[in-house]
Amino acid sequence: MSMTATTDHPNLTVTRKNAALGAEVRGIDLSRPLDSQTVARIKEIWEEHLVLHFPGQSLTEDEQISFSRNFGELAVHVEPDKISKKTPEIFRVSNVDEDGNRIDPESEYYRFFTVLTGFWHTDGSYKPMPSMGSILHGLEVTPEGGETWFCNMFRAYEGLPDEIKQKIEGRHMVHAQDFTRVTCPGLTPLTQDQREEVPPVTHPLVRTHRGGRRSLYVNAAVAYFVGGMAIEEGKAFHKQLMDLATRPKFVYRHRWTAGDVVMWDNRGTMHRVTEYDGAEYRRAMQRTEILGTEIVH
Ligand code: OGA
Ligand code: MN
Repeated sequence: MSMTATTDHPNLTVTRKNAALGAEVRGIDLSRPLDSQTVARIKEIWEEHLVLHFPGQSLTEDEQISFSRNFGELAVHVEPDKISKKTPEIFRVSNVDEDGNRIDPESEYYRFFTVLTGFWHTDGSYKPMPSMGSILHGLEVTPEGGETWFCNMFRAYEGLPDEIKQKIEGRHMVHAQDFTRVTCPGLTPLTQDQREEVPPVTHPLVRTHRGGRRSLYVNAAVAYFVGGMAIEEGKAFHKQLMDLATRPKFVYRHRWTAGDVVMWDNRGTMHRVTEYDGAEYRRAMQRTEILGTEIVH
């Protein structure tokens, strides 16, 4: 454990969770305004660990928005039925509605947050400037299942066999929110206006970050076509990349406790939810998504 005091938060501690990625951060109340030194410190540890877990928090929608704005502008999700009626920047990752009633486990809403979200993905890769990060606050959590798994895409890139590194060099994929309806049949199709708001985009399979470090950039929920490959060949190659990237040595598995805030980097990690019994358990979480500021290159 390393002590990492800032002026306002002398008790701030950071503990690595796992060899691949993730750190637990204690000694800070995220519902209060943070001074710039503390924000700078969080950015630094976020960059180092990619996934930060703040246990024991209690944030209203507005408090979560204020905390999230320390890191950038916030997204409003293209699918209005998935966002809070009061606060459009809050994406409701939940199997209960805003009145606290259970959502039918057979419904498309439920499938979106279980089946679709169960594919390894990164949030907002379907935009020309993909999201920088996301912040998820667990209000009600499941006693079993419903874990969120994260993988480190820097390590995934570095661990690729050389011939695959050569094969992905300079190659692009198509990412589209509309493809979620291919991945997960049964979701309500996007409307024409939604399709026009988020048309398909392409991104390289390799992202180069500040300082020249590289990460693999793939997404099983919204990406299919690999440039220069026949459709079936591209799909099989993408699957091979996903399998290599999500080997257990690159993965941190987060088991939720109510009150957790988990903040992840959408540029250098992927994540997915694991199955849970939605007829038995309630799961209510609120998410903010921090917009990206750079075209991927
Ligand atoms: C998300 C997401 C994972 C989960 O909110 O973007 O993928 O465990 N959530 O619900
Ligand atoms: Mn997600």
